[in-house]
Amino acid sequence: MSARAIVLAAGKGTRMKSAWPKVLHELCGRAMLWWVLEELHASGVQEIVVVTNPELDPLVTRFGVRTVVQAEQLGTAHAVTTALDALEPRDGTVLVAYGDMPLVDHRIFDDVQAALGGDDGAALALVTARMPLPSSFGRVVRAKSPARSASGAVERIVEAKDCTAKQLVIDEMNAGIYAFRESALRDVAARIGNQNAQAEYYLTDAVGLLIAGGGRVAAVSVADYRSVLGVNDRIELAEARALLNRRLCEAQMRAGVTIVDPATTYLEPGLQISCDVTIHPGTWIFGETRIGEGTSIGPHCRIGNAVIGERCDIRESVVLSTQLGDDVRVGPFAHLRDGNVIGNRVRIGNFVEFKKSEIGDDVKANHLAYIGDATVGPRTNYAAGAITCNFDGEKKNRTEIGADVFIGTNNALVAPLTIGDGAMTGAGSVVTRDVAPGDRVAGVPARSIAKKPRSS
Ligand code: UD1
Ligand code: MG
Repeated sequence: MSARAIVLAAGKGTRMKSAWPKVLHELCGRAMLWWVLEELHASGVQEIVVVTNPELDPLVTRFGVRTVVQAEQLGTAHAVTTALDALEPRDGTVLVAYGDMPLVDHRIFDDVQAALGGDDGAALALVTARMPLPSSFGRVVRAKSPARSASGAVERIVEAKDCTAKQLVIDEMNAGIYAFRESALRDVAARIGNQNAQAEYYLTDAVGLLIAGGGRVAAVSVADYRSVLGVNDRIELAEARALLNRRLCEAQMRAGVTIVDPATTYLEPGLQISCDVTIHPGTWIFGETRIGEGTSIGPHCRIGNAVIGERCDIRESVVLSTQLGDDVRVGPFAHLRDGNVIGNRVRIGNFVEFKKSEIGDDVKANHLAYIGDATVGPRTNYAAGAITCNFDGEKKNRTEIGADVFIGTNNALVAPLTIGDGAMTGAGSVVTRDVAPGDRVAGVPARSIAKKPRSS
């Protein structure tokens, strides 16, 4: 029988100083709570209940888990009791974790369940970690008397705010991850009081109470304390984000991606980056982005929901919701957005913006240009300073430009407009009427300047 899990997320998160619930603050593009739920799923937990507060509850539905509202935040033990009241009692294991530990690894959930042992095992297994001091974590107090336990069994947990000076130098911390035998949890949770520095019902008091009642409490230590760091303020949020980002970068590097500077490369889960992609410093890649083999991104790019082909070279540019073919060059300082589909070997130079446009193979727009709501045929050259005037003040209009067209410098292409294959427009033209294939137009407004065949 797989364990059920209770995730506590109702706390006020006062140390965040935020109007927004703490567990919804994002790290690497995902809410803090998402990371915890992801690892619980990865360890095979099927039944998850998240304890929320009234403001948070409607915002958690997107995670697709069951929630229970804790109307008043009276402490972690009170939150667990609220969840238990909503669950049909059964024999089995209940994992309890906090929604503010986004660095947790699913193996920790496996290990703590294993530490609980079989039916004659412990009533509770908890995770501890050695950490640098000072720390706001609860301290793990172990028995000293050899008569009681030669191995120094866990006796109780003391919250940092309740610690004596002597207890504050203990460097073994309560990580905040527990595997309880459900019957023991139901029994002990009901007996926890709130006589402490914060007048809260502490789940951590379960340790002392279970032992006093003759139960056994097991402990497992994590080798790397960073995987159980809690996020309580924005400083810890930034630290946790950096660690998560480092993990994401390392996974990409192991898969064959060169990341020149992981500290300034911002990734998210779920990216598909092929081998031999190089990511240069100052680059942020997010959303449903896929990048083909041999492509180079950065320095200083923002790439979101983009599908990028092979051997492309994108520098100092923004590429959003755009599809690029192979061997495309972008930037420096280009902005591609909102659903472009761009062919192979296209050259997009500095200060060029494309929006909602289909661009054929081998098109060149090398300098200072805007192409919006347009189709551009293959091999067309779109010169410096040319723009599609796609907005007439009321609605957006389309521009259709054929293959092998030459759009001159500093043109205004007033949409709706069709320019036929092989046409040319002169420098400085304002093109207000359709241009026939092969025609040459120039002027303001542009008129045909093609030599007419002589009539004999
Ligand atoms: C808690 C532990 C501490 C441990 C640390 C690890 C307790 C009493 N202390 O302290 O031993 O070292 O986590 O990170 O458990 N919550 C509720 N309802 C409440 C109060 C809290 O759902 O009434 C939730 C919070 O949203 C949070 C989690 O429980 O996700 C932990 O609460 P928090 O206030 O962050 O406890 P810590 O002080 O970090
Ligand atoms: Mg906390």
